[in-house]
Amino acid sequence: MKKVCFVCLGNICRSPMAEFVMKSLTDELEIESRATSGWEHGHPIHEGTQGILKQYGIAYDVKKDSTKMSSDDFEYFDVIIGMDASNVENLKAMSDPKYHNKIVQFAEESVPDPWYTGDFEDTYQRVLSGCQEWVKKLT
Ligand code: 4NP
Repeated sequence: MKKVCFVCLGNICRSPMAEFVMKSLTDELEIESRATSGWEHGHPIHEGTQGILKQYGIAYDVKKDSTKMSSDDFEYFDVIIGMDASNVENLKAMSDPKYHNKIVQFAEESVPDPWYTGDFEDTYQRVLSGCQEWVKKLT
């Protein structure tokens, strides 16, 4: 089974949203999410992301908490998907170049961060359409 990891800055808004939307779309991938920073380490999924997942009937793990990408994670995952251009840049800066071919951007356009925009609906719609494309590519 291919192992996929979604990554954003805090691992409380966008990447957990992508993790659980993707899990709702396929059973054929191992899917997790991580942060590029330790800023939210141990914190639960943002209530705005929990709210939008509930609104659209997407099951999620209430015990999921923010975890920073480790050096073992770069080895373990087959595909490492940054939610925006700066996440991709940071992922490359924090990893050995031998892993750079695993690191890709979620969509051509960066997924806006609802931590700053407050617009979880817009982020959800982009995450949903992006995940539908990733399922096609990876399964
Ligand atoms: P995320 O959003 O990267 O989509 O999880 C953020 C969460 C927390 C912070 C920034 C972005 N923060 O500054 O703590």
